[in-house]
Amino acid sequence: MTSGNGGRALLLGIDMGTARTAVVSNRQYRALVSSVVGYPRDIIGVKILNRTQVIGSEAIEMRSCLDLHYPLQDGVLKEASDKDLEAAQELLKHIIALSGPKPGDKICGIIGVPARASVSNKGQLLKIAGELMDIAMVVSEPFMVAYGLNTLNNAIVIDVGAGTIDLCALRGTVPGAENQLSILKGGNYIDRLLEAAIRDAYAGVQIDRYLAQAIKEQYAFVGEPQQRVVVPLRVNGKPAEVDVTDAVRVTCETIVVDIVENIKRMLPLFDPENQSAALANLILAGGGSRIRGLGAMIESQLRDYGQVKVTTVEDPEFAGADGALRLAMELPPEYWDQIGEKVGQ
Ligand SMILES: Nc1ncnc2c1ncn2[C@@H]1O[C@H](COP(=O)(O)OP(=O)(O)OP(=O)(O)O)[C@@H](O)[C@H]1O
Ligand SMILES: [Mg+2]
Repeated sequence: MTSGNGGRALLLGIDMGTARTAVVSNRQYRALVSSVVGYPRDIIGVKILNRTQVIGSEAIEMRSCLDLHYPLQDGVLKEASDKDLEAAQELLKHIIALSGPKPGDKICGIIGVPARASVSNKGQLLKIAGELMDIAMVVSEPFMVAYGLNTLNNAIVIDVGAGTIDLCALRGTVPGAENQLSILKGGNYIDRLLEAAIRDAYAGVQIDRYLAQAIKEQYAFVGEPQQRVVVPLRVNGKPAEVDVTDAVRVTCETIVVDIVENIKRMLPLFDPENQSAALANLILAGGGSRIRGLGAMIESQLRDYGQVKVTTVEDPEFAGADGALRLAMELPPEYWDQIGEKVGQ
């Protein structure tokens, strides 16, 4: 594909999340980067790192000498300080550079963000994106997931992210704010609860949110345990095998009731004759969709509503970015303003 000015178009699908940002390009580039920018705390950090900033998982590994900035928090772009906005721009710049633009390329990107950000601070994000790309559009991530699956009618996407759980009702049009709901309880919330639950259950155990997150990502489940979850931790500095089965189960289950209640709240948006179709088309996405048993538990808690089917996307890490790229490839950038607000031309 060539762009209007004779240069080639580099099309990017980007899913900018609280925890991770995925990027895919029309030249088959794919990457997943932790959504964090670290700035050295002092001169020692600069000396150790030999850089003034570190982006992605390396920043988390080197966190002892860095101030970490996560550009998105609670489903919106953080605007607390200039450093936060700068971090958002640095992150975006980094992933664009990773995708390998060539001189003369026209860079056109569709950026999926949590549903709340797509409604509340889209303008700020567009401004940042507009300075880095020739054409950019910001859309809600659950809509991108739906677009990628070609499920644009009579369906509900439930995106269990790190900062928020976003629900989006697909009713055959581009969903506006009235078709989206956000719950401020995502994976980060579970991590905090799990950290506290393990600390409360075992006196002297050493646990922090990163360790809790790692345990969750390996063992997360809801419902009856298939096996005990026993992990090596340190108690008062001494290695110990700790049974965290109940802590993992209870904390992961905290999100189920919110998801179910919000599905019920969304149902009346569909015409009565379409509600059973929507319930047979619940799509679970986002990193939290990997919690074992989550789909089955949602189905069972909705059994009074007739036939309910929850389908989990195959590739939760890339489903949003792939959908964004698909849209970018199917709809020429000149027409993006028919879907949402765009900057550039
Ligand atoms: N196997 C797993 N089991 C449970 N949770 C997981 C698993 N893998 C990843 N997660 C969690 O999923 C979350 C990241 O998912 P995702 O990449 O969809 O979030 P995000 O897009 O960064 O966040 P948001 O959409 O809220 O901005 C993190 O909380 C992570 O711990
Ligand atoms: Mg997300």
